[in-house]
Amino acid sequence: MCGIVGYIGKKDATPFLIEGLRALEYRGYDSAGIYVAGQGVLKRVGKVDMLTKAIPKTFSGNAGIAHTRWATHGSPTEANAHPHTDTAEEVLLVHNGIIENYHELRNELESEGIIFYSDTDTEVLAKIIGQTYTADTLLEDAVTRALARVRGTYGIAVMSRREPEKIVATRLGSSLLIGIGTDGYYIASDATPVLPHAREVIYLDDGEMAILTLETYAVRNAIKTLVEKSPETLEWDAESVKKQGYEHFMLKEIMEMPEVIKNTLRGRLDPDEGTSILGGLRDVMPRLAHIRRLIITGCGSAYYAGLVGQELIEEFSGIPVEVEIASELRYRRFTGDPEHTVLLAVSQSGETADTLEAIRIAKRHGMLTLGIVNAVGSSIARETDAGVYNHAGPEIGVASTKGFVSQVAVLALIALMFGRQRSLSEKEGRELVEALTILPEKAAEILTRTDSIAEAARSFTSTQNALYIGRKYQCPVAYEGALKLKEISYIHAEGYSAGEMKHGPIALIEPSFPTIAIAPRDSLYEKICSNIEEIRARSGRVIAITTDGNTGLTRLADHIFYVPETHEALLPILTTIPLQLFAYHVARERGLPIDKPRNLAKSVTVE
Ligand code: G6P
Repeated sequence: MCGIVGYIGKKDATPFLIEGLRALEYRGYDSAGIYVAGQGVLKRVGKVDMLTKAIPKTFSGNAGIAHTRWATHGSPTEANAHPHTDTAEEVLLVHNGIIENYHELRNELESEGIIFYSDTDTEVLAKIIGQTYTADTLLEDAVTRALARVRGTYGIAVMSRREPEKIVATRLGSSLLIGIGTDGYYIASDATPVLPHAREVIYLDDGEMAILTLETYAVRNAIKTLVEKSPETLEWDAESVKKQGYEHFMLKEIMEMPEVIKNTLRGRLDPDEGTSILGGLRDVMPRLAHIRRLIITGCGSAYYAGLVGQELIEEFSGIPVEVEIASELRYRRFTGDPEHTVLLAVSQSGETADTLEAIRIAKRHGMLTLGIVNAVGSSIARETDAGVYNHAGPEIGVASTKGFVSQVAVLALIALMFGRQRSLSEKEGRELVEALTILPEKAAEILTRTDSIAEAARSFTSTQNALYIGRKYQCPVAYEGALKLKEISYIHAEGYSAGEMKHGPIALIEPSFPTIAIAPRDSLYEKICSNIEEIRARSGRVIAITTDGNTGLTRLADHIFYVPETHEALLPILTTIPLQLFAYHVARERGLPIDKPRNLAKSVTVE
């Protein structure tokens, strides 16, 4: 969703602002805009390239802000793109988030004669900052006063033509960080644009404001008291946000899978005790030993990873687990005993608004909150009581691939930890540790088999609908496989428990309707085979995913993808990979923008 970049320092701001906007493209957007001190505001609808083409060579200055907008209030037009200005056109504002009371504020301002040029909530804030920015007021004070009137969420960067050597940046519920470079200060809504320029960053917390000038910076809190913030070091390297010769980020991120699994597991397996070592949970371990209920929450792929986690944790430990979509959980009545309930939030970006809100509500109820997060320093990582990082490296493709797989790997580690605290024997624990250790090699093996997946994808290009089925561990894999296909190929796809076929979906089956059956040789293999037989009996097309050496499906499926055998509980990590590749190749055959599918955003920072 919307992205913010800013720069102030010794260099020309424009090159970084453009490069920064490009680095943020992956978040999803539909228009972009830039302001550089001493120059003006430029905005364009569409890709960042449209904006860069419009920027004259002379467009330079030592400070500037820029924005990619994902339309919420008002359609994607130049008028609605950021930066927005106040009535005197002195204040320039870029904003992520939503001003919830914008409607009443706008009515009020309009009744005072203020004219609006856009449909956005952001322009309302710009106009209010302008009103409070009287001749003897500093920009930071005007922003503080204006923000006292708004309700909602924001990450903002503000400049003023009157104080051209200053940028004010502040946040409430929408992430913002400051990169401390040797040649200046960088502002960004996530770390990716900053990576090539600064390793030291300051993550602003809610209510904090950074005041950046050419030579120095200060951070203060909502009551204007200066706060000492020690910079944190970014772990990710700049190379990891480049395509490195791959046609798409999505393919690169799938091909990284063996390394990703290795990184997620590194240092976290204890072969002697047959358990996992999760440093991020150490402090809360005594409380975890006594929990009676676990609620897992997340959105999109993270929610499906949570469903795999439910199977794993219940199976290994016997702890009752519920999994709830965060956008629903936040509006549900919390029941039960908060002292013995834990909320586990799963989020690749660590910024998903609904997931964050569910965490805040759980905390208010007195629950312990844990996170499985990939983006170090993100809001969810900071707001949960404890957690485990995925260490998957930056994920740029909008449709999650390595993010999902690493989430499942972390959930397997957590399930192992809970299991060994409770009912899982040392022998079973050791078997799992052994299986996890060689999982990266097995993932690598799948990646040598991409040709047959690409070939099956070619027969799918004109397909309108598809059904994905699985049982137990593979049921959430079916959901995730269907989500991947619909996200990037725009083919309508549904994931279903194979056991539910007879209660509805079987009515869809006819020769042109394909089913993707995830049917490894696991404890429910025979059951899903019966479902496949039923589909075949109705002349339905079948693509099957199964384990090496299984010849039982040859007669039943039009295409079969094989994955190496492993412990049944870990199979989702492997069976997901061919489904991701399949969705990728179908979308590629259809010539679609795989890394940035229409209407989708990588990081959904508004409700
Ligand atoms: C968006 C992304 C999905 C992702 C979901 C949750 O919808 O496009 O790929 O699964 O958000 O994101 P999170 O960062 O919380 O895992």
